[in-house]
Amino acid sequence: MFVVFPDTSAVADYVSATLVNTIKSKPDAVLGAATGGTMEPIYACFIDKVRQQQLDVSRLTFFNLDEYVGLGVDHSQSYAAYMREHLFRHLSFNAARLYLPDGQAKSLEEHCRDYSARMQQHGGTDLQLLGVGSNGHIGFNEPGTAFDSRCHVVELSERTRIDNSRFFAEDEIVPASAITMGMQDIMDAREVLLVATGKNKAPILARYFESEVTEAIPFTILKKHPRVKIILDEAAASLLPARVFQRAAAA
Ligand code: GLP
Repeated sequence: MFVVFPDTSAVADYVSATLVNTIKSKPDAVLGAATGGTMEPIYACFIDKVRQQQLDVSRLTFFNLDEYVGLGVDHSQSYAAYMREHLFRHLSFNAARLYLPDGQAKSLEEHCRDYSARMQQHGGTDLQLLGVGSNGHIGFNEPGTAFDSRCHVVELSERTRIDNSRFFAEDEIVPASAITMGMQDIMDAREVLLVATGKNKAPILARYFESEVTEAIPFTILKKHPRVKIILDEAAASLLPARVFQRAAAA
């Protein structure tokens, strides 16, 4: 289901309210976290709501979607640093319940197996947040990734490295590979919210709508998920026929 909001702040308000409702109904919820520019206003809004409503977040568990291979928590562009800056350092989370793939693990394969196993021990996520790459990737599952994959190491596509270079300094090189939750780890979620904002995402949203379920456009797998919402602003929805989406006001 596509739900379209007037702008990014209305999107952030709605998605953060959904997170808050999840916590209220299940204070020990397992949440799947995403990174990227799309999520920044969402986390900011979530932090405000948690503070205003004085919610206890200490029983929550987080599993992050992905991490660059080779970047540690001290590298400003690692997703560990992103999560610390945009979410984790602002609220009283239990650090032992914040899981991120470790881009510097000694054995990446073993680490991937353990990460996926740990997610399954938790019964998968209650709510998985997703962004989407301009080529349709979710997490770092690039086009062609097997739908039955679990957490694994991926070679990043040229498209993704170019898209993500905007976050890196001019003299920094975007890593060539990453660890990502697999497609099956994502599909184990009880509920999925995919968020896309801005006109750069409009073409891939139109392809999603027109396409059958195919590994060539990874996020088409979501058409098979029983509980998924695709949350868009007007710009990201601009190439979709108006009859297929529902317009919403802020939450
Ligand atoms: C990155 C992340 C994805 C994210 C996507 C979109 O490649 N690995 O998890 O969804 O980019 O990012 P943005 O929100 O910055 O467009």
